[in-house]
Amino acid sequence: MIDDPNLIVGLKSFDDAGVYKLSDELALVQTIDFFTPIVDDPYTFGQIAAANALSDVYAMGGTPLTAMNVVCFPTQTMDVTVLREILRGGLDKMREAKVTLVGGHSVEDSELKYGLSVTGVIHPKKIITNAGAKPGDRLILTKPLGTGIINTAIKAKTASPEALSKVTKVMTALNRDASELMQVIGVNSCTDITGFGFIGHACEMIEASDVGMILTSSSIPFLSEAEEYAKMGLVPGGTNRNKKFRTKQIELDPSLSPELIDILFDPQTSGGLLISTPQEKSLMLLDQIRKKGMEEASIVGEIVSEPKGKIVVKK
Ligand code: CO
Ligand code: CO
Ligand code: CO
Repeated sequence: MIDDPNLIVGLKSFDDAGVYKLSDELALVQTIDFFTPIVDDPYTFGQIAAANALSDVYAMGGTPLTAMNVVCFPTQTMDVTVLREILRGGLDKMREAKVTLVGGHSVEDSELKYGLSVTGVIHPKKIITNAGAKPGDRLILTKPLGTGIINTAIKAKTASPEALSKVTKVMTALNRDASELMQVIGVNSCTDITGFGFIGHACEMIEASDVGMILTSSSIPFLSEAEEYAKMGLVPGGTNRNKKFRTKQIELDPSLSPELIDILFDPQTSGGLLISTPQEKSLMLLDQIRKKGMEEASIVGEIVSEPKGKIVVKK
């Protein structure tokens, strides 16, 4: 690997996006994300994939500027109108984010995949990483959990229309407003919640920040249907992988239900931001995030100095 002093956030830190310094005032933020469809409607899938890809730039407090489409498409077996709808969904989400589509690349593949490669800008001294959380900080989670479980129920044709509409709203929502607010109000650390689940990304934060975390499970927002479907066993394969990987770092209150534990480890698609902010700013930030339409945003816990590297989940 090349040692480049301008690479200020890179592969080693397991952070959301890479940051490359151009000058003392300007750095590039770069990220790429693409995946297979999670909902049946191609336009909605395009929106979700774009919102998800942009999220890593927002998590670091950056401003996305341009994007390129990444497309894998089975031209032999699928009608090209499906692809057009996906791209239209992606483009509409980019417009909402004021991001310019500058190009893309597509390959023939047996399985459809779509996403974006995103480039943004950030001030090199104002980067918000997952490494800045400080003891005493309060933790804000901006979106409800449970999208992985509901997506599993959608695939099993079990999800109700209400669940589908709720999960679509959550996954297509940009993390932009919460990101802009945290930049204005000032926070210590942030990450977005995606494939490793809430606990997985929270663990990355405490490891990078060299602190511990206490969560209050009753204040953690989740989509109510997720509990119901988890009870029916509609849990994605990634949940158990996420659990196994982090089990030594977690202390769960014995009264927590198995469904709630599934939700805590549930892999998220286009999940919310987990923001670590000084206590005195936490209520104001929460209030402003809620006013922007993220009504389920909640203070879910706090950062502690001990036990380091551990997450204690209380009732
Ligand atoms: Co991320
Ligand atoms: Co990502
Ligand atoms: Co090309």
